[in-house]
Amino acid sequence: MRSTFNSRLSRRAFLRASAFAGAGLTLPGGWLLGCGSDDGGTEAIPLEVDPSLPWWQQNNFEPVFEEITETDLQVRGSIPSSLDGLYVRNGSNPQAADNLHWFLGDGMLHGVRIRDGRALWYRNRYIRTRMYENGLNTQAAGAPIGPNNQSNVSAVYHAGRLLTSGEVGFPHEIDPSDLSTVGPYDFGGRLNTFFTAHPKIDPATGYLHFFGYFFAQPFLTYHVADERGELIHSEVVSAKGPTMMHSFAITDRDVVFYELPVLFEPSLFASAGFPYAWDESFGARIGVMPLGGPASEIRWVEIDPCYVFHELNAFREGDDVVIDVCRYDRMMAGERLGAVDAYLTRWRIGTGAAELTFAEQRLDDTLWEFPAHDRRYTGRPNRYGWLTTTRSHPDTIDLAGIALRDQRSGEVRIWDPGPSSHSGEVFFVADGEAEGEGWLMTYVHDRALGVTDLVILDALAVERGPIAEIRMPRRVPFGFHGMWVPA
Ligand SMILES: [Fe+2]
Repeated sequence: MRSTFNSRLSRRAFLRASAFAGAGLTLPGGWLLGCGSDDGGTEAIPLEVDPSLPWWQQNNFEPVFEEITETDLQVRGSIPSSLDGLYVRNGSNPQAADNLHWFLGDGMLHGVRIRDGRALWYRNRYIRTRMYENGLNTQAAGAPIGPNNQSNVSAVYHAGRLLTSGEVGFPHEIDPSDLSTVGPYDFGGRLNTFFTAHPKIDPATGYLHFFGYFFAQPFLTYHVADERGELIHSEVVSAKGPTMMHSFAITDRDVVFYELPVLFEPSLFASAGFPYAWDESFGARIGVMPLGGPASEIRWVEIDPCYVFHELNAFREGDDVVIDVCRYDRMMAGERLGAVDAYLTRWRIGTGAAELTFAEQRLDDTLWEFPAHDRRYTGRPNRYGWLTTTRSHPDTIDLAGIALRDQRSGEVRIWDPGPSSHSGEVFFVADGEAEGEGWLMTYVHDRALGVTDLVILDALAVERGPIAEIRMPRRVPFGFHGMWVPA
């Protein structure tokens, strides 16, 4: 049996073998799958919030402080033998629980090394930023410029280099063999701005397209690194003000920026901790410019005020640029983060005439966040999207299950992990030729049991639940964005 799983099976062969062995859907070991229904699943046990504590210091947002290494992890089900690499996820984990906002903790990575159908190790490591090493929180550290940041939002793998990003300041380079920090990374001295947490790799060229926003002029700078990781292009884009620009999109021809009315407000730094707030009077607009520049050719179109952290993907349909986004009616307008719901919305920007046109359409009435796609289709028409379902909660963020959404038919299939469990963002790992052939990976936390599993799902059959659940040796707090680093 062991040798079967040590040989590298293709995804299809693995699924056939798993079904034959009865290990694909009915997991050995006596675990009940969370639900596996496709109709929204079980009734959730309400998530309670203690009003005497900030919500990001309780429930599974509460940080963990000890760094541990654990080998030979317990697995239920079968890990695909074709998976050989590291799943790693970043998140905000203050070294002292005194952060004034969920976004303002030290970056901590939680990683699992997978090979030959086994989970070889789990490690969690703080990112050794200057702020972490000096024991400084954001109040004490001052402006997050250059290496002075917490690097706590995402992980990026490009040109053989694993970087973490806090979206402010420089990224940090990480050694994927043990999650140790190599140091701040500035592209050989060429990067002189922030580095977004959501850069995009053009699958045709391998180029990394990214940007940095800033509190003062220049508010926005666009960058391109080539397939070898050399920063080959940087230019200022004519943004209107200091907005919090969390992400952007590319197509095979365009770069698309969202300039939305969450604005830098330095007076909030001392009082609220997080120096951004909703200001509807600023307006909202989308900018479209040629991929690779020049930024002088950017054109903007006004839209209704809203906020978007994440897009599912963007692509061209003739003269139209289509972007599917998780759209909030407002953000940081006084409510707690999470108290405003996001709906999947399709933006359509007509570029054929002198003036851009804009239309938007809500795609369904489900609440979503953390959209993902098959990154071989970044910037190209894609059929499949994966999202984490959410539940409205007045006091905290309440993540639920994992969904596969067919963007052409609108069909949605959901895996509900159970009444006391919460899924994080999934990362899609390609394994097969066709779009969507591959695996989804994410941490799922069960607050009733107090345990976290790294789950692996068949990306095109999420409703069947995990094919493998890797028990973490400790609770893994909720975080932000994950990445798969192939061996
Ligand atoms: Fe993000």
